[in-house]
Formats: sequence, structure tokens, C-alpha cells
Amino acid sequence: MLRSALLNVMIKAAQKAGRTLKRDFGEVEHLQVSLKGPGNYVSAADRRAEEILCAELSAARPGYGFVGEEGGRRPGTDETHTWIVDPLDGTSNFLHGIPHFAISVGLEREGTIVAGLVYNPINEELFTAERGKGAFLNNQRLRVAARKRLGDAVVGCGLPHLGRGDLGLAGRDLAAVQAKVAGLRRFGAAALDLAWVAAGRFDGFWERDLSPWDIAAGLILVREAGGFVTDFQQGDSPWISGDVVAGNEAIHRELLSLLNTAAKS
Ligand code: IPD
Ligand code: CA
Ligand code: CA
Repeated sequence: MLRSALLNVMIKAAQKAGRTLKRDFGEVEHLQVSLKGPGNYVSAADRRAEEILCAELSAARPGYGFVGEEGGRRPGTDETHTWIVDPLDGTSNFLHGIPHFAISVGLEREGTIVAGLVYNPINEELFTAERGKGAFLNNQRLRVAARKRLGDAVVGCGLPHLGRGDLGLAGRDLAAVQAKVAGLRRFGAAALDLAWVAAGRFDGFWERDLSPWDIAAGLILVREAGGFVTDFQQGDSPWISGDVVAGNEAIHRELLSLLNTAAKS
């Protein structure tokens, strides 16, 4: 696989930040941890990784804007391009010693996500995609799963936790979907969940109330792997609305219908 200069920039930044995250994960018990809100921990590792990503990406593409979960928006002189970055998606997993977390880097160009990277530094799985050029796991081309029936599908989801989201609605979503699928999973890193849809590991995924950095990179991974990603109203920009449903065409349609019915009940 021949990688573009743009992807090389993103990969170099993610691998550098990934090295420090991996080191910090090894010492997770000794990390200084601060509370950002109930159930939502932010570690020193998180902020360090974001600084590395911002420095590397800005050095390679001066002028691009940068939106990171920890540092917020840093506008650039080039208003047409913005990096959308989660330096550590799956923070609770990280802090509990669960090796399922990732760096997520998306690139927005004039309202469209044109490149995405999701990298788990523990198992070194690197998911990348560029608009019109396909999605890859390391060097292997990705394709969403072909299963068309929900009854055969393993579906990932994200659920609200202490102090977050609408628990009643999440309960109705769950009840509606769990009765129809072969398996449900909640692994705790939305960017990886979407990457896993792109890789055909999950047949579908949904979550409400996410942030742009949870969705931007995963969205282009799924689309470039031939899948569908929208919000619950079938809007094309779920990284803006924060609600996301993904899968192949059939599973995406079925999930949307179940979830929208559940929301009205
Ligand atoms: C969280 C994870 C989780 C999702 C949460 C996100 P963080 O991101 O993606 O799976 O359910 O809504 O906030 O806080 O670990 O970066
Ligand atoms: Ca996140
Ligand atoms: Ca995060």
C-alpha cells in the first residue's frame, strides 16, 4: 500500500503520541489523575498525548486548525482545514488497565471529513482512510461485514454512564436492539467501535451524545470500507450532531428504524 504524504504525517504523529500513551499505560497505577466530571477521568497521559499530536500535526501542516478534547479549539490561519483529535479514546479502559483504547485523528476540509486515523498503540492496530482511497488496517484493505440480517449481527453500542446522557432512552434503545441481534457489545471506545465496523468485526454500531473527536475519524473509515454512517435523522454529519449509527446498508437501515421507534415509545 502506497501511503499519501498526508497519511504519513498523521501516522507519524499518532505513533509518537502512542509511544507515550503505551508507556503511561504500563504505569497506570502511578499516574496523576484528575476528575473532569463524574465518570469522566482525564489523565496526565491524555493531555501529554494531545500536546504531542498538536505539535506534530501543526509542524507538518502549519495553519490548519486543531480541535482536541483536552485543549479545545485552536484556530489556524487556514480556515478550510481542521484536525479533530481525541488523544485517548477509551479513557476509562485506560485507567482500569483494559488495553482497549485509541488515538483518533480526523481531518475536516470545508465541512467534509477527508481523512481519518484510529490507532491502538497496545496491539499496534492502525486504521486509516482517505476520501476516495479506501480504508485500511495496517496494510490490509477493509470492507464492512456483508451480513444483512440483524438476527446474524453482532452490534456494538455506547451507553451513558454516571452523570451522562438519557438513561431512560438508552434503556429503550437497548431493549429494542438486544431482542433482534445475535450479540451486543459495549467496549468503551467509540472511535475503535467505528473502526471495528469498518473492519467487519462489528456488523453495526450506535451511540448517542458523542463529541466530534469520537466520530470524525471512524466515520471516514466506515464510509471508505463501503459502510453507512449517519445520525438518527440520516444526516450526513454525525460528528456535529453527536448521535451516530453505522453499518452496512441493510444493518444501518434496520438499526435506524429500531432506534427511532424506541425513541418515540
Ligand atoms: C468516550 C468513549 C466511550 C463513549 C463515551 C466517550 P473518552 O470517550 O468513546 O466509549 O461511550 O461517550 O466520551 O472520554 O474515553 O475519550
Ligand atoms: Ca472519546
Ligand atoms: Ca478522550
